[in-house]
Amino acid sequence: MEKVLEVNDLHISFDTYGGEVKAVRGVTFDLKKGETLAIVGESGSGKSVTTRALARLIPSPPGRIKQGEILFDGKDLAKLKEKEMQQIRGKDISTIFQDPMTSLNPTMKIGNQIMEGLIKHQKMSKAQAKSRAIELLELVGLPNPVERINQYPHQFSGGQRQRIVIAIALACNPKILIADEPTTALDVTIQAQILELMKDIQKKTESSILFITHDLGVVANVADRVAVMYAGKIVEIGTVDEIFYNPKHPYTWGLLGSMPTLDNKEDNLIAIPGSPPDMLKPPKGDAFAPRNEYALEIDKEMEPPMFKVSDTHYAATWLLHEYAPDIEPPEAVKRRMKGFAQTGAGNSKEGERP
Ligand SMILES: Nc1ncnc2c1ncn2[C@@H]1O[C@H](COP(=O)(O)OP(=O)(O)OP(=O)(O)O)[C@@H](O)[C@H]1O
Ligand SMILES: [Mg+2]
Repeated sequence: MEKVLEVNDLHISFDTYGGEVKAVRGVTFDLKKGETLAIVGESGSGKSVTTRALARLIPSPPGRIKQGEILFDGKDLAKLKEKEMQQIRGKDISTIFQDPMTSLNPTMKIGNQIMEGLIKHQKMSKAQAKSRAIELLELVGLPNPVERINQYPHQFSGGQRQRIVIAIALACNPKILIADEPTTALDVTIQAQILELMKDIQKKTESSILFITHDLGVVANVADRVAVMYAGKIVEIGTVDEIFYNPKHPYTWGLLGSMPTLDNKEDNLIAIPGSPPDMLKPPKGDAFAPRNEYALEIDKEMEPPMFKVSDTHYAATWLLHEYAPDIEPPEAVKRRMKGFAQTGAGNSKEGERP
């Protein structure tokens, strides 16, 4: 499959009074045309910083891209001037964030907010942009778009506002859509509708989606591939099936073990002990070692490289080294893996994945 984005060894830091917060420490991945890549991991693992950097939305100062490449359309976005980036942001790369209110301008009619990008990037006339805005609002399922186009954001519900944000994000048929917890602030039924909508639109437009979420259940339903982040690094990446049925990193085991499933109610949840490291002083060796009951001696000394499990599956754990002891996931996680295999982790996409 054709790659639309390639991120190589990306490092991002924030200069604070306390020192340098090393938020992203060598992230490498690519995004293929038409796919959805989910990024999961605990709070503070660097999901938002990584993806915001792709649209160059890291406030600077205090933030800065220290090192690495973000290759898109023959350019390295990490080094692009803000002026050039403005041609790409909102046109080729669009973003949807958790709280729609922060993405909308409260003093501007929603129609005008959708038309802005169309006039700027697509060089449409006002009349053309208006009819396209109405089409887009229909596409995202907002009732009575002809009348409502003249209303302000506060006149809509949270779910409706998120639909408007999606309409704005989609206005210029972006090649990449970055959705950072787009449904977390919404109630469950609306969440499901919005996710369904994103999947539908993706089919029509062949855009690639980077989807950030805390919710592994959502991942199973919407993603093709999953990247697991811990302490500013991707520690495991693979297809949904590989991550759910054959996870290799003890941190991924921890995430799966702490995920509620239908037959495995809360009482069986296993929380990951301890908390993530302080990114002002990331530890030597494997950052997960202090919380990892399967840690080896070498984990305290040396960071594990990405070991290859399959052409699409990689994990950064010394347990995959040929001389490492043979350690299986804990029983509770294995039961869960079996459960996923029986019910189908990504059942709504069965047969579509390569
Ligand atoms: N403006 C900032 N100044 C200093 N540190 C920051 C800033 N923004 C983010 N960080 C730090 O960068 C790290 C990664 O943050 P990020 O927001 O990417 O986490 P996340 O994985 O998106 O978490 P969450 O799931 O809570 O959204 C954290 O340690 C955070 O404290
Ligand atoms: Mg975040």
